[in-house]
Amino acid sequence: MRGQKATARAHPNIALVKYWGKRDAALVLPHQSSFSVTLKPLHVTTTVELGTGTSQVELNGREALGQQRERVLALLERIAQEAGRPLGGAHVASAGNFPVAAGLASSAAGFAALAKAGRAAAGLGEDVAQTSRLARFGSGSACRSIQGGFCTWRRGVRPDGEDSFATQDFSEAHWPELRLLACVVSAAEKDVPSREGMQATVETSPYYPAWVEEAEAEVPRAREAVRRRDVTALGMLAERNAWRMHATALGADPPLCYLRPETLAVVLALQAARAEGCPVFFTLDAGPNPVLLTTVDHVSAV
Ligand code: PMV
Repeated sequence: MRGQKATARAHPNIALVKYWGKRDAALVLPHQSSFSVTLKPLHVTTTVELGTGTSQVELNGREALGQQRERVLALLERIAQEAGRPLGGAHVASAGNFPVAAGLASSAAGFAALAKAGRAAAGLGEDVAQTSRLARFGSGSACRSIQGGFCTWRRGVRPDGEDSFATQDFSEAHWPELRLLACVVSAAEKDVPSREGMQATVETSPYYPAWVEEAEAEVPRAREAVRRRDVTALGMLAERNAWRMHATALGADPPLCYLRPETLAVVLALQAARAEGCPVFFTLDAGPNPVLLTTVDHVSAV
């Protein structure tokens, strides 16, 4: 595959109904479906060259080592297998236009761009479902960053995971007034990465089954709120889903608390803003930094 080179771009996504917990860790299969919106102005651009003999992985200008490097090369290994050829070394260079520490799903955008560029470099034809399945192996949420707009990752039921991938429900053109604002209260690395946090939650939180059932039921409701462009319905749904994810994680043993005092200060301030008629809502991944949802008219007030 020497000399085959391709570049691709992907955007981070923020889940409005979160993915939290795997039913199969090796195949990265979730217990429940999830629903997200892609953040169009932010992107990661990745170039992959295959058949280079030795391998080199560069992320944001720095050489990636250890687990980070292994995860990137493992994904390319899968692509080589699909193409029916040996990998023969790869050069990867990936860079984003936003700070990694902002907690904005940089790994999702990174693995999505890697899956796209890797498949193109290997000469595999464009196949959105297959690219999404592949990105899932890098990081589960990356399967929702193959396309833009609003996407659903259906959990699927097959043990081999072939039906577990994301598809686009609405393009970003469907709701141009929607705005998401990242609210960075702490740029510190999180203590417990999502991967470990969700596993501990599945294994030890007595609330986990209730989380799965509720989250699955929220996905069609979230799609319906987006279809109607109803920011209040979507915002309330996103908030209760985030609270439930964090409540389930708090129920783990030992408890997992991703919140900081500043997180609560923001959340309480939003309630006050809403009481004054400003439609602003939050969602919260496995970290302390809320992402706010509002519409274009209210951005400056927020
Ligand atoms: O895809 P991962 O393994 O980074 O996990 C993502 C977990 C959350 O961000 C908390 C939720 C989600 O659906 O993106």
